[in-house]
Amino acid sequence: MHPEELILARAAESIVRGDLVAFPTETVYGLGANALDPEAVLRIFEAKGRPSSDPLIVHLANRDDLWLVSSAQPRTALKLAERFWPGPLTLLLPKSDKIPPEVTARLQTVAVRVPAHPVALGLLRACGVPIAAPSANRFAHASPTNAQHVLDDLSGRIELILDGGPTPLGIESTVLDLLSQPPVILRPGGLPREEIEAVIGPVRIAQPDERLSSSPGRQARHYAPRAQTVLCSGFELQEQMQELAEIADEAMRAGRRVGVIAVSEGLRLMRPTTAETCDLGPISDLPQVARRLFAGLRTLESAHVDLILAHTLPPEGLGLAINDRLSRAADRVVPVGPMKGPPSPPL
Ligand code: TXA
Ligand code: MG
Repeated sequence: MHPEELILARAAESIVRGDLVAFPTETVYGLGANALDPEAVLRIFEAKGRPSSDPLIVHLANRDDLWLVSSAQPRTALKLAERFWPGPLTLLLPKSDKIPPEVTARLQTVAVRVPAHPVALGLLRACGVPIAAPSANRFAHASPTNAQHVLDDLSGRIELILDGGPTPLGIESTVLDLLSQPPVILRPGGLPREEIEAVIGPVRIAQPDERLSSSPGRQARHYAPRAQTVLCSGFELQEQMQELAEIADEAMRAGRRVGVIAVSEGLRLMRPTTAETCDLGPISDLPQVARRLFAGLRTLESAHVDLILAHTLPPEGLGLAINDRLSRAADRVVPVGPMKGPPSPPL
């Protein structure tokens, strides 16, 4: 047997035995358990420190296995699966009786996807059962985009990590509710809205408060780095960076350690600063910005900054998902430019 096959076979045995196995997907690392084994699934919540009211995504090796997890497959689901699976799209469908209630937090719907990563697919094929897997981070921490991030968060709590290097997309899948009309994006992610609409027509983006009720795990502050985080939202990068620089200066004068996470053009617009900086790459390369986002937030945390400053991007393509993650990491959003509102409270 090829060594990699041997490793996948061992990992598959672990899954079947009821162990937790972290594995790379094209989006972020997942923390997997046998989706048909309620006890194994409950251990996921324990290891992550995640409330069991937050449902998990079920991963399949093949789109033809959809019947196993969902009791009905509307035509739009099959069309999307045909076009985008394997890939970063999670579909919300009616749940089948085979999936235990622990997986879906007792909801009648199930979230399902086929991941586009050779290690994830190899594991799924080798174990022959669907794998329930949230992102492999401690609850409310930035999602893990490499094996070290998983170790940092979950060392000692899980049996095995399959190290497949950094994940190619770096941001989680798009979650699409197909039971609503028109379909609703509950979480913008690695597959842009525009690509979905090209296949099934208009979809709606859920409002943040609406997401809280329809997707129980969607706490407003979800991707919370340990440092306080302020997000400047606006249309003009220059204005956003000016505001960021002012907040940074004031905080540093007060003796705080400040980190700035921004696109390359944004960092160039800032005056030389003693703040820690994290370059997300050029604004024209949103895939790179998405890939660097969570790792960047973790790097600033390890630099022990106590304030992280970030800016929003134009809300198109991957920009929508990046803004979503940043706004849910933020303790405070400061609008700049034309939509500037009343002054926000001091830090
Ligand atoms: O890219 C991804 O989606 C990664 C990789 C590992 O596949 N997984 C991931 O899982 O991000 P997690 O658990 O971190 O996020 C899943 C999201 C949560 O916001 C959860 O509330 C929502 O999907 N979700 C899952 N099942 C649901 C359901 N039945 N109804 C509504 N929302 C659901
Ligand atoms: Mg997560």
